[in-house]
Amino acid sequence: MDPVVAFYDAHPINERQIQAALERAGKSRQSLRPADLYDFDQDHYGGLDAVAALADGAGVATGSRVLDVCSGLGGPARFLAERYGAEVVGIDLNDGRVRGATRLSAMVGLQDRVRFARGDATALPLPEARFDAVIAQEAFLHIGDKPALFAECHRVLRPGGRLAFTDWLAGPALDEGDRARLADGIAAIAIHDADSYRQFIAAAGFRDVAMQDLSPMWRRILRQRLEMYSAMRDDTVAQFGPERHAAYVDAYAFFVDAIEAERLGGARWTARR
Ligand SMILES: C[S@@+](CC[C@H](N)C(=O)[O-])C[C@H]1O[C@@H](n2cnc3c(N)ncnc32)[C@H](O)[C@@H]1O
Repeated sequence: MDPVVAFYDAHPINERQIQAALERAGKSRQSLRPADLYDFDQDHYGGLDAVAALADGAGVATGSRVLDVCSGLGGPARFLAERYGAEVVGIDLNDGRVRGATRLSAMVGLQDRVRFARGDATALPLPEARFDAVIAQEAFLHIGDKPALFAECHRVLRPGGRLAFTDWLAGPALDEGDRARLADGIAAIAIHDADSYRQFIAAAGFRDVAMQDLSPMWRRILRQRLEMYSAMRDDTVAQFGPERHAAYVDAYAFFVDAIEAERLGGARWTARR
């Protein structure tokens, strides 16, 4: 099985875990609104503020046609539909993520405004020039073929449409041992420094390529995310067993250490077709 698919098949954040969290929070399945999910369904760093920053970078407004590449359980897609009035399509490699995103969206009444399909970001099952904006969060680190990825993002955007995404950045001290450990523990198979990333984006034909360094913010928030995963122990053990919980927290701790030691960082990128 593809290691990225296997990684998300055993990820602590998943549809069942979200349902359990909703029950514990006393939310009735009969009367759920999109906002009831927001504490649980955002699988990236910085929560709704991070999605709002991307929406601004991509110029998302009422009626915008947005593609969320690597949409996971659909949290950002639902937020853009509900708060911005966007029409959102999400594509994800992982079938369980796509089915979970579809069910969670129907549960909060957004089934007509967000749609999800299984697909590979390097070969999008979508027509060209279909979208006003393409967004993604903390997902491109899983994708080795960056030329194909950015060519596809470019192809599906209308002329003038905008790309906005966040992802990890390699610092100068990131070494081969770090890369092997991050590939093994988090399926992070393709981590680039800022110059290489800029070249990949520009080579696909994008213009106005801009980067905002998020490393200082990530250094502040990622330890809390590690604590969140540690606190999810019971849910993770119930689904995947104690070894998976320990392995995940261990790999995540290595990632957070690398962020704090500045061997890794993060950035928000924007560009225009
Ligand atoms: C960290 S999750 C982010 C999910 C979502 N963007 C969010 O912020 O809640 C990364 C997602 O990327 C997906 N992914 C990884 N490689 C992919 C690829 N080549 N094509 C499509 N999706 C991919 C994974 O299945 C996973 O759901």
